Formats: sequence, structure tokens, C-alpha cells
Amino acid sequence: MMRFDVITLFPAMFSAIKEEGVIARGIKKSLLSIHTWQLRDFSDNKHRNIDDKPYGGGAGMVMQVQPIRRCIAKIKQKNPNTKVVYLSPQGQKLTHQLAKTLSQLDAVTLLCGRYEGVDERVIEQDVDLEISIGDYVISGGELAAMVLIDSVCRQISGVLGNQDSLNDSFADGLLDYPHYTRPKVVDGQQVPEVLLSGHQQKIDAWRKDQALKNTRLKRQDLVTE
Ligand SMILES: C[S@@+](CC[C@H](N)C(=O)[O-])C[C@H]1O[C@@H](n2cnc3c(N)ncnc32)[C@H](O)[C@@H]1O
Repeated sequence: MMRFDVITLFPAMFSAIKEEGVIARGIKKSLLSIHTWQLRDFSDNKHRNIDDKPYGGGAGMVMQVQPIRRCIAKIKQKNPNTKVVYLSPQGQKLTHQLAKTLSQLDAVTLLCGRYEGVDERVIEQDVDLEISIGDYVISGGELAAMVLIDSVCRQISGVLGNQDSLNDSFADGLLDYPHYTRPKVVDGQQVPEVLLSGHQQKIDAWRKDQALKNTRLKRQDLVTE
């Protein structure tokens, strides 16, 4: 079972994936677990503050070292080998390959930033890897952590049930082929004849060709030839 520990100021946000859809099913099947930690519980003052003004001045607040360090220490008491990931726009870009690599791990701790982010000393000493979901800035690491959890869990055997992730975009370096369902004709738009032929070899060949065309058209950078 893969274990995610999530350090956050907004644990309730994670009900979105813990209670609905593919990830919730994976949890029910005991293929993964998600444990949220309220960072304020690791504050050392009665106001439960975990942030302070930045040295050197400037806008915004910075998340302090000690509450984060205490929380990570608590998580590591049970899972000393957990890999600590800080979700950050400055991190390595999340890709299919990185999600697959992470899916081989037993335990991952996800640190969700807020405000201006965390004190740099956390990154120096406590974080193993910084991961970004793209070249833009969002208001907190929670959505990024959920994107990461979802993409990683799709790679865990059994999570998708009989849905197949092998043909998903990026799995074999190409984008996916086009999909169609009933009815055969909608407002004059036809389903490609080959998909109705019942001839599996021809269908597979058509899908391969379409995946290549799709990739050339939409993501030329993925096609190396
Ligand atoms: C407002 S952002 C802070 C941005 C930071 N001042 C910077 O420019 O690098 C607050 C938090 O959102 C999360 N975050 C924002 N954009 C992200 C991205 N593209 N990928 C992953 N996490 C992101 C990080 O955890 C970050 O600490």
C-alpha cells in the first residue's frame, strides 16, 4: 500500500479526492492511503501561528521552519523512509515519468506551501525534492498535491480497476488516440467506420496511426523523428 502524508493548513480540501472517484476507490481497496496533518497543530504558540514576516521586508508572510520540522519528524517516527516533496513552482516539472517513478515508493510526504512559501532552510534541510505542476503560480500547494497524488495513483496497479492507463497520453511517449461512443451518428458526425468493423487488428493499427497524427498535430515536441 502506498502512503501519502500531507502537511497542509487546509486538510478539508483533500476530501475532494479522498471521497470521490478513482482515488477514493483506491483507498477503499487498500491500495493507498492519504493522511493529512494540520500544520497549526505543530505551532508552539496559543494563536497557532505558523508564519511570520519576511526578513528583509517585503510583501506577504513566510511559513516558519519549526512547525514544519516538528510535523515531518512526527511523520518520520512511523515512516522514516518517506520521501519529502515540497510542491513549488520552482520545482522539477511533474511528468508522466516522474509520477511513475514516485508510484514505486512506499511513502511520500507532501508539503503544501501557502503565502510566500516556506523558509528556505526547510528546503535546504528537510525537503528531498521540489515538484511543480507547471510554470504558473497558484495560491497554495494543496491543489498541486492533489494533482500529484492523482497522477501517481493512476500508475499503481489495481487503482484504475478495469480502466487501462497504458494507452493514456504520455504512457508510450505519444498522446492518446481519439475516443467515440454511442450513438454512431450525432448531428451528421459519424464514428470512423473502422471502429465499427469488429476487426481488432485494423482497429489497433488505426488507433496507433491516430495517436501519432494527434501527437504531431498537438505536441510536435514529443515526436522525435
Ligand atoms: C503563492 S505560492 C508562493 C510562490 C512563491 N512566492 C514563488 O514565487 O515561487 C504559495 C504556494 O503555492 C504552491 N504552488 C504555487 N504554484 C505552484 C506550482 N506551479 N506547482 C506546485 N506548487 C505551487 C507552493 O506550495 C507555494 O509555496
